[in-house]
Amino acid sequence: MSVIMVKDLEKRYGNMKAVDKISFTVEEGQIFSLLGPNGAGKTTTVEILEGLRKRDGGDIEVLGEDPEKFSAEAKRKMAIVFQETALFENLTVLETLKFFRRTYGGSVDLYEILEELGLLEKKRTLVRYLSGGQKRRLALATILTHDPKLVFLDEPTTGLDPAARRKIWEIILRLKSEGKTIFLTTHYMEEAQFLSDVVCIMDRGKIVEMGSPEEIIKRSGLKSVVKAKIDGKEITLETDEPEKSVKELIEKGAEEINIRKPNLEDVFLHLTGRELRD
Ligand SMILES: Nc1ncnc2c1ncn2[C@@H]1O[C@H](COP(=O)(O)OP(=O)(O)OP(=O)(O)O)[C@@H](O)[C@H]1O
Ligand SMILES: [Mg+2]
Repeated sequence: MSVIMVKDLEKRYGNMKAVDKISFTVEEGQIFSLLGPNGAGKTTTVEILEGLRKRDGGDIEVLGEDPEKFSAEAKRKMAIVFQETALFENLTVLETLKFFRRTYGGSVDLYEILEELGLLEKKRTLVRYLSGGQKRRLALATILTHDPKLVFLDEPTTGLDPAARRKIWEIILRLKSEGKTIFLTTHYMEEAQFLSDVVCIMDRGKIVEMGSPEEIIKRSGLKSVVKAKIDGKEITLETDEPEKSVKELIEKGAEEINIRKPNLEDVFLHLTGRELRD
């Protein structure tokens, strides 16, 4: 079943086409990642799907409804973590979670959530005194206070330390194992490669590639790089069949053999370029 269906979605700001006729679907239980350089149109797309911005063209269904006319029931089935955290600065951490639990009518143990996200010691601290990473974790904690079917995460791990990032990955995979659908945007290619069932790469408002990380890497035609030393001399090979090259190199007596396979980051840079975007 498709949880999100997007057909020819368009959004303009003045003359600029921020989203230029994009189409995709997200199936139930998938982790779908939207990738793209700064300004590609990711947040615009996500916020249209969340019902927070109006579109200029195209058809969309999210949980079977048009986001511009979401019912209260559809809204209750969704959880959103924004790119810029929108939390109440004057509530404490615990009060924030209580507020979300009450809003959505959940009955979860908030202390368990605080513990899991390493915020237990901060439970009586006002949100305004939290560090950037702690705020981010609290924003993520809010989605655990109820039982959404669809979770939107706009750059959930930006600014988090490595341990916190791994924790968030673990939580995202757990939500998936519970059958929830996750719509993610991220600038961390390792994160997208590790988590996603489907990756969609946007650039300048258009989709430039879509598929599973493995498919996309394969389709890119990028080669593996094999480095080795033969008789003390360093050699570098580009190949589609690194294992075969390694075998041949071993037969030639090569040492210090090192393989680097193309990853999602290589494909991303290959497709969207290395120059900065304004
Ligand atoms: N409310 C707005 N008014 C005018 N232009 C906007 C508005 N919101 C976004 N834009 C422009 O639309 C384009 C897409 O912005 P968007 O925030 O969707 O990008 P993004 O892919 O989320 O980027 P980032 O990776 O930096 O978060 C940008 O050029 C941005 O300047
Ligand atoms: Mg954005």
